[in-house]
Amino acid sequence: VKLMSDQDLAGKRVLIRQDLNVPLEDGNITSTVRILASIPTIKAALDAGAKVMLMSHLGRPEEGSYDESASLAPVAAELGKQLGRDVPLIKDWVDGVDMGSADVVLLENVRFNAGEKANDESLAKKMAALCDVFVMDAFGTAHRAQASTHGVAKYAPIACAGPLLASELDALGKALDNPARPLVAIVGGSKVSSKLSVLDALSKIADTLVVGGGISNTFVASAGNEVGNSLYEEDLIPEAKRLRETTDVIFATDVRTTKDGFSDWSHDSKTEVKDASEIQADEEIIDYGPETAARVAEIIKNAKTVLWNGPCGVFEYDAFAKGTEVISRAIAESEAFSVAGGGDTLAAIDKWNLADKISYVSTGGGAFLEFVEGKKLPAVEILEERAKG
Ligand code: 3PG
Repeated sequence: VKLMSDQDLAGKRVLIRQDLNVPLEDGNITSTVRILASIPTIKAALDAGAKVMLMSHLGRPEEGSYDESASLAPVAAELGKQLGRDVPLIKDWVDGVDMGSADVVLLENVRFNAGEKANDESLAKKMAALCDVFVMDAFGTAHRAQASTHGVAKYAPIACAGPLLASELDALGKALDNPARPLVAIVGGSKVSSKLSVLDALSKIADTLVVGGGISNTFVASAGNEVGNSLYEEDLIPEAKRLRETTDVIFATDVRTTKDGFSDWSHDSKTEVKDASEIQADEEIIDYGPETAARVAEIIKNAKTVLWNGPCGVFEYDAFAKGTEVISRAIAESEAFSVAGGGDTLAAIDKWNLADKISYVSTGGGAFLEFVEGKKLPAVEILEERAKG
């Protein structure tokens, strides 16, 4: 693909698609990870003398009208703070943008426009007409073939990849294509069913596949253990067995359980540690036991590449967080090339302040998983096509 860094941007109108889809609570941004990741790209474009228009989606508003709760206003304010200059938010922009004296503006939520998600051709052409150069930098949205990610890249005079997108593709490529071995993949989270293609893909390339959270519970059940009230998927036990036959899969052999119901969970919920063969009908697995966590930490210590997505327990509550903490710290301390991605994974990394110690923290959620599955990202494919001319 063409790269932004190779383009002459001086005096050009540069439209940058970013993924500024940040979590909000009562209008306040709860994680600025994606905003911070976008700053170097914006600064590079400004330093190169560009007139910069930023665009992004936020949330999943109903298309075709303005919805204040999905406005990018809080994002514009945060960008302004980070860049040390005013970043005006342009509400109506599809038919033309007057930047006035500003050198950087943010275009209001692309998903307010009818046709965005359907990748409508006339909308994409209007977006393309706004700029001399289109920069795709939204790795987190690169798995969506939408007007602001795919269509616009098709019609813009020049379409190239921004530095964030390029570094995401580099880091993930380094972990997945020809990785330094052993490659250890850690896949946590609640359901085997939602990550089956990821587990399948990783089972083919990883030397060891570690599963955590509810995913581990289905494997615990597949080994013939009672799992009581634990979150697991009975119908996926055959899949768990199949993966275990072909791959070295590590799952919990000792567990932390609670008898508290979901509504009673708290930071000091009462828990018990026991062998996976001793779980009672009224208990629920909520974390790895210490032996399993230590075993996984040792595996991580000996790895040369680590790919991590998904927590190993209900780490939002301190009482259930030990397993995820041990694994996160092991990844942070390891000398392996480590790549982590996914919303919950980023929250875990934040909880223990480990972001600086992971080799690469991806800004992608769904895009990260699709890339790991080996799927082509449509917004990257179109850049490749355009680069061929
Ligand atoms: C994400 O948060 O994964 C991306 O911003 C994509 O959002 P979407 O799933 O609403 O398309």
